[in-house]
Amino acid sequence: MQKPNAQRERIIELLEHKGGVTEQSVREVAEETGVPQADIWGTGLFYTLVAKPGKRVRLCDGLTCQMFGADKLAEELAAQGKEVERVSCLGQCDLAPASLDEEMELVTYGKVETRITPDDPELPLNLAGPVDMSYSALAKVKTMPAEEVIDELKAAGLQGRGGAGFPAHFKWNSLREQPETQRYVVCNADEAEPGTFKDRELILRQSHKMLEGLAIAAHVVQAKEIYIYLRGEYVNEYRVLESAINEASSQLADYDIKIVKGHGAYICGEETALLESLEGKRGMPRLKPPFPTVSGFRGKPTLIHNVETIACVPAIIHRGGAWFNSLGKTEAGSKLYCISGHINAPGVYELPLGVSLDELVEAAGGYVGNPIAFSPGGASSGFLPISQRELPLDFKNLSEAGSMMGSAGVVVINDTVDMAQAAKWQLEFFERESCGQCAPCRIGTRYIHRQVDKYIQLGDPATLSMAEDVGWEMEEGSICGLGMVAAKPLESARKHFPEAFKVRD
Ligand SMILES: Cc1cc2nc3c(=O)[nH]c(=O)nc-3n(C[C@H](O)[C@H](O)[C@H](O)COP(=O)(O)O)c2cc1C
Ligand code: SF4
Repeated sequence: MQKPNAQRERIIELLEHKGGVTEQSVREVAEETGVPQADIWGTGLFYTLVAKPGKRVRLCDGLTCQMFGADKLAEELAAQGKEVERVSCLGQCDLAPASLDEEMELVTYGKVETRITPDDPELPLNLAGPVDMSYSALAKVKTMPAEEVIDELKAAGLQGRGGAGFPAHFKWNSLREQPETQRYVVCNADEAEPGTFKDRELILRQSHKMLEGLAIAAHVVQAKEIYIYLRGEYVNEYRVLESAINEASSQLADYDIKIVKGHGAYICGEETALLESLEGKRGMPRLKPPFPTVSGFRGKPTLIHNVETIACVPAIIHRGGAWFNSLGKTEAGSKLYCISGHINAPGVYELPLGVSLDELVEAAGGYVGNPIAFSPGGASSGFLPISQRELPLDFKNLSEAGSMMGSAGVVVINDTVDMAQAAKWQLEFFERESCGQCAPCRIGTRYIHRQVDKYIQLGDPATLSMAEDVGWEMEEGSICGLGMVAAKPLESARKHFPEAFKVRD
């Protein structure tokens, strides 16, 4: 007989395979894996793609999709007799409003096409450039001492592109210092922050850069197993990645690479929640320290990087850290900026790190209408007024402005949008996506969302009198970044757009 919990890492995959959480599937998975039924219910119900079996249209509720008529579209689809589920974000803001059909295939409503920066061999990621299957940077790394590779990353000034901006070389070094020799590399491809779709384009257009970066990382930190945690709604991206791994099977032969599909929980983008999910548990963030470089997947040292961070590595190896560093305007390197909303050419643009909003929008075809605000780095970054359009979009300047670089998911908002409503859409996202582990976040996200909703209905600013205090509690008392920043959309909208929160008739 197998040990209790012996196969717990398989339970979510098995539930998905059996069509989601039902009495029968839970019973069967418990028998197959040795995990108690109650535990399987609790885990399965955490994940939206597992919890609700059945076919339906999934319609995106992200900020840009809302600005571009998601509510109206929901009514139209319902009138056609379709069952519609409103979901937090589908990572298709450039194609807003977006939905997935009953087979999880993307449906867009025809107005726009994704744009990317034109082919330029001077760009490390060069989304429009030719695909390089040589894996020559990996071959070069195999002739270099590991310390030299890490020195190049340091000289490059490569900061994590997943949101926190932590220097990459620190993490690689930390892993190498661990006495434990069983180590893992994990690629965070869970991308689910409204406004963000850069990792999607990287996977679709340049997946070998990411795979080569992962192999280089595994070589340097001496890991054999690589996990790619890919958001579950990225069905096409899964196919592309799978075939890229097959295409490069000889170059990647030294590594065991697994793609694990996410299951529809934004919080699993947080690195420790991701690890919990990989281990077959609810995706609830861990307390840090210990950090994953010390105790990560299965309690072993684990290097976790965002898709974009890791995809920069081959070019750094080829052309040197100093070259990469010099590409930036105010901070090191080039950066993939996602831009959507009221601009002419939504898409992903690789530009020097630290360009201003005006420079980014110039690449993206110009503003539409009279812009009043922008959200520079996903829902977590709140809103800035358009008067800050000259501010460098980098880690330091945005943080000093009370915002953040985050995932560089920039959304431009013009004067057709009510900023109280824009704040409400973002707050709704955080309420839905809180994992519920800590009280300030679980209760606070619900409270402030409800109060803004009341304000919009009643026009009475007194409904928001406690919002600031609750926001403070959330920032101070939450375990992870979600709860710490979830009040930011309201706080920043009230600060920069006080006229949107006055008494209304
Ligand atoms: C709520 C939350 C969601 C996150 N989502 C993502 C994500 O989807 N993708 C990602 O790469 N990082 C995400 N992060 C950041 C990760 O925790 C982690 O910092 C990152 O994967 C490390 O890789 P990097 O150093 O290459 O940036 C998220 C963080 C938080 C707090
Ligand atoms: S802050 Fe929110 S999302 Fe993060 S661990 Fe706590 S309850 Fe979960």
